[in-house]
Amino acid sequence: MDFDQPAGDSRIDLSRILGQPATRIDGPLKVSGAARYAYEQHDVLEGQKVGYPVLATIARGRITAMRTTAAAAMPGVIGIVTAPEVGKMPKPFAFNVAPLFGGDEVVHYHQAIAVVVADSFEEARAAAARVEVDYAGETGGFDLHGLWPERREDARDPVARVGDFEAAFAAAPVRLDHDYSTPAHSHAMMEPHATLAHWQDGRLTVWTSNQMVEWARTGLASTFGLSEDQVRVISPYVGGGFGTKLVLRADAILAAQAARRLGCPVKVALPRPAVMNNTSHRAATLQRIRIGAEADGRITAIAHTALSNTLPGGRGENAVDQSRWFYAGAHRLFVHHLGEMHLPESNAMRAPGEAPGLMALEIAMDEMAEKLRMDPVAFRIRNDTQVSPEDPDKPFSDRHFSECLTRGAEAFGWSDRPLRPGSRRDGDWMLGWGVAGAYRGGPAMTSGARLRLQPSGRLLVETSMTDIGTGSYTILAQTAAEVLGLPLEAVEVRLGDSDLPASAGSGGQWGAASATAGVYAAGLALRTEIARRLGVNDADTLVFEAGTVRGSDGARSLADLAAEGEIVAEDAIRFGDFRKRQIVATFGAHFVELGVHALTGEIRLRRMLAVCDAGRILNPVTARSQVIGGMVMGVGAALMEEAAIDTGRGFFPAHDLAGYEVPVHADIPVQEVIFLDTADASATPLKAKGVGELGLCGVAAAIANALYNATGVRVRDYPLTLEHYL
Ligand code: MOS
Repeated sequence: MDFDQPAGDSRIDLSRILGQPATRIDGPLKVSGAARYAYEQHDVLEGQKVGYPVLATIARGRITAMRTTAAAAMPGVIGIVTAPEVGKMPKPFAFNVAPLFGGDEVVHYHQAIAVVVADSFEEARAAAARVEVDYAGETGGFDLHGLWPERREDARDPVARVGDFEAAFAAAPVRLDHDYSTPAHSHAMMEPHATLAHWQDGRLTVWTSNQMVEWARTGLASTFGLSEDQVRVISPYVGGGFGTKLVLRADAILAAQAARRLGCPVKVALPRPAVMNNTSHRAATLQRIRIGAEADGRITAIAHTALSNTLPGGRGENAVDQSRWFYAGAHRLFVHHLGEMHLPESNAMRAPGEAPGLMALEIAMDEMAEKLRMDPVAFRIRNDTQVSPEDPDKPFSDRHFSECLTRGAEAFGWSDRPLRPGSRRDGDWMLGWGVAGAYRGGPAMTSGARLRLQPSGRLLVETSMTDIGTGSYTILAQTAAEVLGLPLEAVEVRLGDSDLPASAGSGGQWGAASATAGVYAAGLALRTEIARRLGVNDADTLVFEAGTVRGSDGARSLADLAAEGEIVAEDAIRFGDFRKRQIVATFGAHFVELGVHALTGEIRLRRMLAVCDAGRILNPVTARSQVIGGMVMGVGAALMEEAAIDTGRGFFPAHDLAGYEVPVHADIPVQEVIFLDTADASATPLKAKGVGELGLCGVAAAIANALYNATGVRVRDYPLTLEHYL
């Protein structure tokens, strides 16, 4: 099905099951342990062995010798595969930056350089500790801050330049020019990367934890010189990914390489300490924002410059892009510098770009509002826009940012906010309120599905889509049930298998919108197929309702019809170019109240509210869960998370969730989420967009702004720890 024009009114009622608060189909399986993750596939193959990685202890250089004799003699050891003996391998996928395994070159600390395979995990781990490695180390660059003084002034090669920023900024009566910083972040997902690999007759099958089944298959095929149909990737449950599981990581390559060489199934999980330095992280950013405005609050000039770390060949963290589209203003300048560093790979993490970009921009907006003596809500509304600030002929498909702000202000009681910083107390607690805007794109990707109406009357949905904890199983079941007029209980969803029709996968918050559109397309195809069985030309003359199909000749139950033989249909949604003539994006506003203890400086959040404009909400339970999860991550980014860098030796010393702190339940107060009742006809046939990344955007800045409101101290460096404001 080609989606090549905005969706009109649907002939199918899309509110009977879609948009209803269905709880997760996979929830009971997960809490009871019945949902098997990649490392738990004990039943699928006999003779599984366990691999444990050996990781480089230098940040850069060459392996000159590896001694494995002592390790190989350890109890239970079956074999050891080393990177020098495997030799240099191709990069699995364009999106990968660092090599995952092979060759004698080390490009970052904790690069995988061998895998030790044994009968048990403990034996493999013990033997891995006995592998001895000699290196010829090289020095590297690890200090982003050293590049900043020069780069913050450098406007060559801008991402975008409109009008004459410098002149307009100089002429503006009210001006802001400040630097901001965000540290590197770790994805810190609950389930570490893990893969079980098995070879049979030259074909490779992996059970792995991956967001993008198709990309993983392509990556394995290119790494091992196979055709895509010689590779099968199975990823039915993913315990969080946040971007680091968009592509293959070392676990998959080590398991597949070892399984091939040793002739047995091998599983490898990356131990938690390896996740920090072996996989990927969100790059640190240094940012400079300049805003000039008229006294009435109209922005006339805006510039955003950012610098982020990357290995050579990577993309870093583009923290300036959302600033191009978020607020109006005639004169504009956006610059993104890559600071080549020899740290581990920086790559996409939830809302890549927007998350750290808004951490800075939305503090700057708060500061500007104060300079202008305006309410920060009113200042944002003053600079809202319905068209691209770079091209007045390019409209937003559906943008309700101002309404997010006004609805949120009303629900939060914003008019009662403390106007003067440090002016409100509750005993020893200084109270502060903060607001920030949220912006995140609304991408969509081709996505396919197959629907099988079975003789039992049940409907099977098959697609390679993944569920990374987001609710894919549930919203896809809802979509299929809706289109075929079946109860939700009659639908079964099979996901995460490259043998199934290729899907969009889970990334960039395109998953929910794209995959439901794919199932919708397959659902229409199944309706057509059912009509054909009934000898009816136009499926739209039929009514699908309560498990029956009704035409002019009366009603028949779908189960009855399928009893004559399974009815199958497959289709995919393909998104046309018309979408590119508009900006399809999602919007939000975050409101926060916190207390700062007057004696200890401790910050305790008191309440949080998010208002989201993300098109039709497919399921308010799973969507809310995405947003509150994003808000929790925003609390982490604001108050705790920092993958600090050892700039001497080039690695992240925090190796676990004790050293890299994330929020726990006790840190999280009341969270409320309001979804605006919007529908974006240019998004998908279901008029839906994603919320999974939007929920994180802007949260940390709302907290920083509340901290300022509580204390009168403006902190522009994250996390907002005591040393910045005491
Ligand atoms: Mo997302 S950073 O595309 O998982």
